[in-house]
Amino acid sequence: MNDVTSQILKRLATDLDFLSGEAICQEFGITRSAVWKHISLLRADGYHIDAVSGRGYHLVALTGRPIEAEVQPLLASLRFGRNFHYHAVTISTNLLAKKLAGEGAPEGSVVVADCQSGGRGRMGRTWVSPPGVNLYFSLLLRPEVPSLRVPQLTLLVAAAIHKALNTLSPALSPMIKWPNDILARGKKLCGVLCEMQSEPDMTHFVVVGIGINVNQTEMPPDLAESATSLFLERGGLFSRAEILASILNHFEPLYDEWILQNDLAFILPYIEKHSLLQAKKVTIEQVNRTLSGAVSGIAPGGELKLVCVNGQTMLVSSGEAHLYKNYL
Ligand code: BTN
Repeated sequence: MNDVTSQILKRLATDLDFLSGEAICQEFGITRSAVWKHISLLRADGYHIDAVSGRGYHLVALTGRPIEAEVQPLLASLRFGRNFHYHAVTISTNLLAKKLAGEGAPEGSVVVADCQSGGRGRMGRTWVSPPGVNLYFSLLLRPEVPSLRVPQLTLLVAAAIHKALNTLSPALSPMIKWPNDILARGKKLCGVLCEMQSEPDMTHFVVVGIGINVNQTEMPPDLAESATSLFLERGGLFSRAEILASILNHFEPLYDEWILQNDLAFILPYIEKHSLLQAKKVTIEQVNRTLSGAVSGIAPGGELKLVCVNGQTMLVSSGEAHLYKNYL
């Protein structure tokens, strides 16, 4: 979609009333026939636009695509999502966001892709990213905090995603799985991959990459046991644009508060209330060891509080948590 077509769409999406052809001509400095061409392009792209003589054009329904013209009219944020980069296909939105960060892109810049050819997950895994159904995006942050605090961002963004999904679909009952997943009925719905460039005293930038299975109607056989989508959970289609805008709207105020605070203490009651692992027996797989114990909570620094068999509480800062099946 070219820039003027996208701007006209954004205008129609912002003001859902009729917009006269004359007003569009004046606002965009184009002729009546150019307006007609842009409207035809939008219709060919799937947008239902009514044209009524004497009144003008009216956008009947949005498609829910996570493009700038559909997302920005829904934003309440001041910075997050205001600088918007959409790609039909890219290797990985995290890769692109890191490149933009190096070129000086502002905090809050968002890179979205309809499809990723090399989507990446934690621990070197791939993130399956088919076109037309899910959300894949990365948010650029430039927090002026020591790099030690940055891992807390994963849980903070998980809280924002949880709030957004819970608002859009309360019956989903999503749960936060420390440190970075959102699950529904015990299956993974969403993952977060944070990557940063820093020195000990200074964080240059953080890229927060988020993948959410939205309208995927079936999972590949190897993931069917462990992963799900909003469609599979709720039996209907969701607007990817609404989900993206809602996450940005929820995350910006949480992030601003976190910058002012020393840690996650202000949001811990919310995270613990919706934590899948709270009061459960778990094993934590780390690079060279496996820990086990009962989860008593999350520390203000974002670590998992694990009560081990010897009765001592450990603060675990990283690893992959598994529920201890015998105790479910
Ligand atoms: C995980 O392993 O749970 C994290 C998955 C993160 C996937 C997202 S999709 C958008 C962004 N781009 C990537 O390549 N990965 C993240």
